[in-house]
Amino acid sequence: MAQTFPKILIVDDEKFYIDLLVELLKEEYKTVIAKDGETALRRAAAEPRPDLILLDILMPGLDGYEVCRQLKADPDLSEIPVIFLTVKSEVADELKGFSMGAVDYISKPMSPPIVRARVATQLALSQARRQLANQNQILEHKVKERTGELERTKDVAIFCMASLAEARDNETGKHLLRTQNYVRTLAQNLAEHPRFTHYLDAYTIDLLFKTAPLHDIGKVGVPDRILLKPGKLDEAEFEIMKRHTEFGRDALLRAEQELGTTDFLQMARELIYTHHEKWDGSGYPLGLKGDEIPVSGRLMAIADVYDALISQRVYKEAFSHDTAVEIIQSTSGSHFDPDVVEAFMVLRDEFKRIATAYADPQTAFNA
Ligand SMILES: [Fe+2]
Repeated sequence: MAQTFPKILIVDDEKFYIDLLVELLKEEYKTVIAKDGETALRRAAAEPRPDLILLDILMPGLDGYEVCRQLKADPDLSEIPVIFLTVKSEVADELKGFSMGAVDYISKPMSPPIVRARVATQLALSQARRQLANQNQILEHKVKERTGELERTKDVAIFCMASLAEARDNETGKHLLRTQNYVRTLAQNLAEHPRFTHYLDAYTIDLLFKTAPLHDIGKVGVPDRILLKPGKLDEAEFEIMKRHTEFGRDALLRAEQELGTTDFLQMARELIYTHHEKWDGSGYPLGLKGDEIPVSGRLMAIADVYDALISQRVYKEAFSHDTAVEIIQSTSGSHFDPDVVEAFMVLRDEFKRIATAYADPQTAFNA
């Protein structure tokens, strides 16, 4: 394979200096020449790009300063190091050159060893800069990859934990997948609604989606005889069942006290604790009313109820999708936030699609 030499663009309007520089550099570098500013800019942009530019200041047409200014203004060319060649050695001129982004000056008449040394130094520096930038990019990529991995591990761990809680209730993980998707679609739709838009940004919607599977995690604290009772619960049993919101909230609180809180844990705690509240204040555990109920609880409530209605339970047959829709619509303003029900009505086909996509294998979705 042919050895590739660094490419140096030499810009000077005087043939004498061009010949001199080409002669000096040709053994170690590939040289390209330009005799005016316009040509210099064209050659600088041509692929492969030069690795360094030796740029005369005094030229007819575009002078060296202007060429340097244009190079530095172009993001594709701004990284190419520029060394000015000049007979001007006044301090003010040098300052002007450096302020325009030049990395060095070589005064005419030129000393061959100085030209070689400065060219080699600037090339080495520029290569080191590129390597460092590459390394940073690789590191950034690695950090992103690891963060993504951790995020996925967390999501999977949470889902597993929630599935275990659901398994006791003869539920499958599909209930969790369905309800988290209902919650997300509701949240996305309501994100445009004036009552919800300030709250439902993309980050919050993602948190809702990820915390929704935990809504019934507190059921691990409900005894089997109640949780698995094949029939309606009596009043005392229902009182115990209601406490699953509290058990879940307490588990999250303990985790937050031990490990410190996060947006995720706060959202999970809020949603777990309030998903059985009702719009008219007749829900539990606190009997919150209307806007007192956190949005997370209001969205989870409708998702959970729709899914319960269309699912077979130990104590009931599955309702059809249409019946479930009717029931939810008829309880707008009593059980549910009317605006959330309105969104649900718009999205009812989407709910049906989600229910079908994540249907339980043993009880095919009865649409
Ligand atoms: Fe629940």
